[in-house]
Amino acid sequence: MEKPCNSNRQFLLLHLLFLSLLVGLTNSTAAPSQDEQSKIISRFQEYLQINTAQPSPDYQKSTHFILSQANSLSLESQVVEFVKGKPVVLLKWPGSDPSLPSILLNSHTDVVPSEYSKWVHPPLGAHIDEQGNIFARGSQDMKCVGMQYLEAIRRLKSSGFQPKRSLYLSFVPDEEIGGHDGAEKLAYSDVLKNMNVDIVLDEGLPSPNENYRLFYAERTPWWLVIKATGAPGHGAKLYDNSAMENLFKSIESIRRFRASQFDLVKAGLKAEGEVISVNVAFLKAGTPSPTGFVMNLQPSEAEAGFDIRIPPTANTESLEKRIAEEWAPASRNMTFEFKQKVTTHDDLGRPLLTASDNSNPWWTLLEEAIKKANGKIGKPEIFPASTDARYFRQLGLPAIGFSPMVNTPILLHDHNEFLNQAEYLRGINVYESIIKAYTSFIPPGRDGVSRDEL
Ligand SMILES: *[C@@H]1O[C@H](CO)[C@@H](O)[C@H](O)[C@H]1NC(C)=O
Ligand SMILES: [Zn+2]
Repeated sequence: MEKPCNSNRQFLLLHLLFLSLLVGLTNSTAAPSQDEQSKIISRFQEYLQINTAQPSPDYQKSTHFILSQANSLSLESQVVEFVKGKPVVLLKWPGSDPSLPSILLNSHTDVVPSEYSKWVHPPLGAHIDEQGNIFARGSQDMKCVGMQYLEAIRRLKSSGFQPKRSLYLSFVPDEEIGGHDGAEKLAYSDVLKNMNVDIVLDEGLPSPNENYRLFYAERTPWWLVIKATGAPGHGAKLYDNSAMENLFKSIESIRRFRASQFDLVKAGLKAEGEVISVNVAFLKAGTPSPTGFVMNLQPSEAEAGFDIRIPPTANTESLEKRIAEEWAPASRNMTFEFKQKVTTHDDLGRPLLTASDNSNPWWTLLEEAIKKANGKIGKPEIFPASTDARYFRQLGLPAIGFSPMVNTPILLHDHNEFLNQAEYLRGINVYESIIKAYTSFIPPGRDGVSRDEL
């Protein structure tokens, strides 16, 4: 039967209306107005201006600020002090299906100290220059990320979005001094257990090019001290087996190993995070005198310390063998000890890494969400240093390191740390897309509906 022309047109109009609604729902919400943008930036500046620099961060002030943000967003909040004076601020946006595990977005509230005199604009000023660069300690590491989470929630809430999974934000203290009183305590707490977390996002690094960087693991530190002993003697005499000679033989061997690893990076065969790095932290030897050192004496003891960073993919057994047999062999009267030796395996004995392929739906979802927000993505990377993400991976949870900053010089812990405001705003769009995807994700098989059927 032929429909009358009129109703056909109505149908078309309805259809168009429906389509435009759909477009509005799937794309990120419309660009914020000028007024809204400047409010977003001033909230960021306000957070940056709170002095949370180690060694005496003002956590009272940062906690107060975060809670006021949570309040304005009607998020549930909780402050937990696993250690007195070290507040972990937890915010929750409850999901519509409490039976689904939750999402955790982590950020640390502390920053490293600054040498004020070396900065063009003061590190606590959050000054914005003519190019739109916001100068402040923490603008990259990582107050940007903490605020972007909140701003993304603000936008999603005002667009009427409702998450299926609960979304948690954790603002943790002391990452810059090891995270032992912050993220580590949280990770091993009942509080976290009760949150029933499925995936954690934490910090990454800026990218000097146009590709966002995603980190699936990090290198673990081994701090090694080797000690040599040997017969002391006159500084004019050539003889074997002095402590210094014994130590230098080791140092030569360590330096050859260092060069072999560095060559792989220089040749472009491996990324910085994929090799074992070894750097001398200290050398300690000599017999002190009132004016310095005794110059005509070969000492009987000598020591050196090394900061070694190991990717979870490395063969640690062969490294341990190398240390015992080549770097500190007993046959050369040497001993060694570790000042710190972090495991490269999680609590379940698996390599400390998060799958970075489609065996891990969170990885795929993250990549898709970033692309949906018009972002490009580089190769998965191993973070060269340490972050709080390791504590969550240690538990066996997947954790991905990501800070949405492209076309940005890497200035973490450097003088004149800055982030461009356009880049900051773009990062909010990216998180909006990620939060949507993550909190809506229902694993295949749930609700009796398989992914294929959907
Ligand atoms: C190790 O120490 C012993 C005893 O002090 C000494 O006789 C020997 O020559 C030393 N060997 C080396 C390689 O330094
Ligand atoms: Zn950081």
